[in-house]
Parts: sequence; C-alpha cells; structure tokens
Amino acid sequence: MSTGTEPPHVTAGGVHGATRAAVPARHLRTDRWWLAPAATAAGLFAFVVYSTWRAFANDDYYAAPYVSPFYSPCVAENCEPMRSGPNWEVFGGWWGLSPALLILVFPLGFRLTCYYYRKAYYRGFWASPPACAVAEPHAKYSGETRFPLILQNVHRYFFYAALPVAGILTYDTVLAFRDEHYAWGHMGLGTLVFLVNIALIWAYTLSCHSCRHVVGGRLKHFSKHPVRYRLWSWVGVLNGRHAQLAWASLISVAAADFYVYLLATGAFDDPRLF
Ligand code: FES
Repeated sequence: MSTGTEPPHVTAGGVHGATRAAVPARHLRTDRWWLAPAATAAGLFAFVVYSTWRAFANDDYYAAPYVSPFYSPCVAENCEPMRSGPNWEVFGGWWGLSPALLILVFPLGFRLTCYYYRKAYYRGFWASPPACAVAEPHAKYSGETRFPLILQNVHRYFFYAALPVAGILTYDTVLAFRDEHYAWGHMGLGTLVFLVNIALIWAYTLSCHSCRHVVGGRLKHFSKHPVRYRLWSWVGVLNGRHAQLAWASLISVAAADFYVYLLATGAFDDPRLF
C-alpha cells in the first residue's frame, strides 16, 4: 500500500504489494540508481544485435591467417576454405546455415548462465531486482527456484565446455603467427588483437565462480592441499575482477570478430609488425 511519501519511482506494486515484505520509503534509494542498469542493458543489447548479425551473416569470417572467434571452431563442411587453417569439418553442410550457429551455443550458454551476467540482465532487462535498496516493481519473486530460471544451475557444465573452446581459440591465436601465405614468423596487428582477446577470454573463463569451486571447493583443510590452495588463491584474485573481465572479454571478442570482418571485406590490409 502506498504511504503517499514515496519517491516518484516507487510504485504501488513490488515492495508495496500485498505479498512482498514492506520496506519503508526512508530505506529506499533516491539517487540515480537506474544509470547502472540502463548502461548495462544498453551494452548487452548492442552486443546481442552485433553478434546476431555476425552469426547469421555466414560470410566475411576468415581473412588469412585469422578466423573470427564467432566461427571457431568451424565445424561444418560449408566453412569458408581455410587452407592449413582451423577448419574441422565434423558436421555436414548443415543445410547451408551459418557455421557460427553450431558452436555459439557453448560460449553463449556460458555467458548467459554466468553469475555476473545473470545479475546484470536481471537488473538491466527485468528490473528484478532493479538495484540494491530500490523498490522492485514485480509483485512476486521466486528467484531461481522455478523453471526456467532453475536451469541456470547448469552453469558449471558450460564452464567445462568453455575450456576446450578457449583452447581452440588459443590454437587460432597460435596460427595467427603465420602470414597470409601460411608461412610462420609473422606478426600483424591482427595477431596482437587475437593475443589480447585470448588473454581476456582465459582470464574471464578462469575467474568463473565454478572454476573457483572446482579448484578449491569441497575441502575441509586447505593446509592438506597446498597446491589446490595456491590455485584457489590465484583464481580468487581473478574472481574478484570477474565483472570487469566479463565486459572486457565481451568487447574483445566482438573487436576480434570485427577486425576479421574489416580484413575480409577489404576495408584495409593487416598492418605487419614483423
Ligand atoms: Fe561468470 Fe562462471 S560465474 S563465467
């Protein structure tokens, strides 16, 4: 029930609804709390638009020696010819669909179920909750206890799947040390872009909460497991930066793809560093 003294953004539903715990207006924020979720929603929306366009484009994803991370591993027969390149051809023609659609489910699932991204898109798109100490507009809240959100618990399996994907992107980065004629000993601006991207991909992957649990969970005494304790400490340092790494790696993977797109469309030639 409204008390008549709430800030303008407080609705009659949510924390003022009959089924929610009552939170007095004096405990609710009145600053511009909506800036962060609005910026988050805008950033995620921009990535979704860009990645959807690129995933369905089925073109301009290879410019020797670089393959776009959106299309790697390229596992369909209809992958663009990649002589001596990472074309795995495990599947058939896949009815001519974009090969990116075959493998994007793994990195996409990993990010969609990520603890940080969950917080980000729950706040940014659903306002559930919108932010700390802000009146929630929804009348009910069941958290992640029901379908479909209970499926978020598969995150640890996406973490396992993310490891080989990161390994393959590492292989692509090694192949980026060739020139356009597949001779080794090359380094172009693209190689640098790929190096930064793979470093951020690994940092994001290893900073995962599931990774932290894998290396340091289910132990009663760290003193009896010094190696795991050391690993857990390292992962913990990365884990403290998980949100930043989530954004940095999201931007870097889009930037690497866009770089390949520019080369493939002939916008410019890859500047050679040596
Ligand atoms: Fe974010 Fe696992 S918690 S990737």
